Amino acid sequence: MSLLSPAEGWYYKKVSKDEKMWMVIALVLCIMLFIWMVMWHVYGRQNPSSTTYKTSTAEFSKLSEAYIKQNMVGTDKGIPVVRPQPNSDVFILAEMWRWSPVLILQKDQAYKMHISSRDVLHGFSIQPVNMNFQVYPQYDYVLEFKPTEAGEYKVICNEFCGIGHHTMIGKMVVIEKEEDLKLYGYENFKKAPDLKSTKKPESLSETEMALQGEQVYALKGCAACHKTDGTSQLAPTWKGLYGKEEKVTENGKAVSIKVDDAYIKESIKNPQQKITVGFENTPMPVFPVSDEEIDQLIAYIKTLKN
Ligand code: CUA
Repeated sequence: MSLLSPAEGWYYKKVSKDEKMWMVIALVLCIMLFIWMVMWHVYGRQNPSSTTYKTSTAEFSKLSEAYIKQNMVGTDKGIPVVRPQPNSDVFILAEMWRWSPVLILQKDQAYKMHISSRDVLHGFSIQPVNMNFQVYPQYDYVLEFKPTEAGEYKVICNEFCGIGHHTMIGKMVVIEKEEDLKLYGYENFKKAPDLKSTKKPESLSETEMALQGEQVYALKGCAACHKTDGTSQLAPTWKGLYGKEEKVTENGKAVSIKVDDAYIKESIKNPQQKITVGFENTPMPVFPVSDEEIDQLIAYIKTLKN
C-alpha cells in the first residue's frame, strides 16, 4: 500500500496529442534505424572482416617477420617499407607502439591483408577515409582491400594501448604510376640484397654489418621506442649513443657507465639490469634477437653519430 494512492482509474485517461506524436516519431526512428542496420551491412561496403583464423602471437610474429624480411624494399623512420604484389597476401603486425610494415599499394588492385597484434588490443583506423577495425592478439583478421584513390593514408591506433598509444601511427601509400613514389621519397627503394646468402658473417664489412643492423632495427621493432633522430620520448635515442656516458640505475643505485658493446648486449638480453635514469616508467621488454643480430645492431648504432 503506497502512502499516496493515485486516483482510481487513472490509467484510462487518454494520452495527450503531443505525447502520442512523440511516441510515433520515436517508433518510426527506431524502425528506420533497424532497417538501416541491415542496409548498411548490404550496401555499406565497410563491413568488418568475416574471415578470421586462430593464431598465436608467436606464430603470427614469425610469419609477418618472414614476410617483411622477404619483401622489404627500404625503411621509413625505422619501419620497414614493403611493396606487395597485387592479389597477394600481406601481413600487418600491430604492437606497442607501431604498425609494421609501411605499405606501397597500387591503385585499383586488390590485396589480402592479414592483421594481428603481438601484444594487446589495438585499433586499425585508416585515415582520412575513417575505416576502423579492431586488432586482437591471437586472431588473424583477413581484410580484402582494394584502394580506389591514390594518396597517403595514415593508420592510427584508436584503442588505448598504453603510454605510447598516441605515437602509434602507421602509413600506407597508394600510387597510380611509378613517378608517384617520388612524392614519398621512395623512388630509390629497391629490394635489399640478401647478404646472408652470399657472405659468411665474419667476412662482412662494417658497412654491410650496419646495413643488416638497420634491417634488424626495423624488423624487430626497436624503432617503436628508440629513435635515431635524437629525440628520446619513450626510450633513449640511438643517435650519438655509442661511447656516450650514461646515468643508469643498477640495484637501486645510480651509476655512470660508458655505452659500449658489452653494455648494449646486456641491455638487450637483460633490460632491467641497468635502467637509464629518466626511463623508469617505460621498461623495455625482452626481444627475441640472436647474438648475431645483436652484433649487427651494435654495428648500426656505431654509425649513428651526433
Ligand atoms: Cu595501439 Cu593504441
